[in-house]
Amino acid sequence: MAATIIDGKALATQVKAQVREEAANLARKPGLAVILVGDNPASRVYVTSKRKDCEECGFLSEEFALPATTTQQELLTLIDQLNHRADIDGILCQLPLPRGLNEREVLLAIDPAKDVDCFHPYNVGLLTIGEPRFQPCTPGGVMEMLKAYDINPAGKRCVVLGRSNIVGKPMALLLLHAHGTVTVCHSKTPNMAELAAEADILVSAVGKTGLVTADMVKEGAAVIDVAMNRNEAGKLCGDVCYAEAAEKASFITPVPGGVGPMTRAMLMRNTLTAARMHLG
Ligand code: GUN
Repeated sequence: MAATIIDGKALATQVKAQVREEAANLARKPGLAVILVGDNPASRVYVTSKRKDCEECGFLSEEFALPATTTQQELLTLIDQLNHRADIDGILCQLPLPRGLNEREVLLAIDPAKDVDCFHPYNVGLLTIGEPRFQPCTPGGVMEMLKAYDINPAGKRCVVLGRSNIVGKPMALLLLHAHGTVTVCHSKTPNMAELAAEADILVSAVGKTGLVTADMVKEGAAVIDVAMNRNEAGKLCGDVCYAEAAEKASFITPVPGGVGPMTRAMLMRNTLTAARMHLG
């Protein structure tokens, strides 16, 4: 049986419409500041999309495009200014930063109350104990997709491929909080294919084209592909061999049009949450 395709784009449109409606009832527009250092073309595309999302949601959006030569101190000074601005609720510094800049120090400098990426250790701590105020955007988007398609992780075998701070680790936590039995696989896992094949919910966040083959997909599984890779032809693709996996899965996310749009929608929701918090 062919898998149901999880339409992240349509779901993201719904989430953003709801965010827009709720934002319209606030005393002022939610404000998001996006910092982009250097000229990474992929980052440039993401930042432009985020500006469009802000327009769609009726948010104030301010973009700070800084040259690759920006010093650590200049970046920290900008963040400090944004931390103190009453019209800015969320601050996002696009990663990766150019070489020479200290990412950890930058993420620590962002006021946790404005950390709409949920990257600050304080917010990661809240997430870990199951009391998050912001949802990490990509994993949070995945959870929304599961919910929208009535896929409940409770009691299910969930396997996450990848252990990054941005996706793998917070993804595992959210699935765990949703009562899944969670296994995290990574580059040192000897039997990843075997473990993946046991998953009712399989989330791949590695960044390796062709990683997830049909033999790694359990019959009837939900397959969520978080990766954004380019194949040899320069075409956007995920980790999952989509056509063959779709023949075994019951649900599958496409790339593009799957998790990506949901990540951005969750950023808008976090910015709304931050604005609510700041408005009291
Ligand atoms: N680079 C890739 N993904 C992300 C993200 O979710 N947030 C930020 N700030 N940078 C990224």
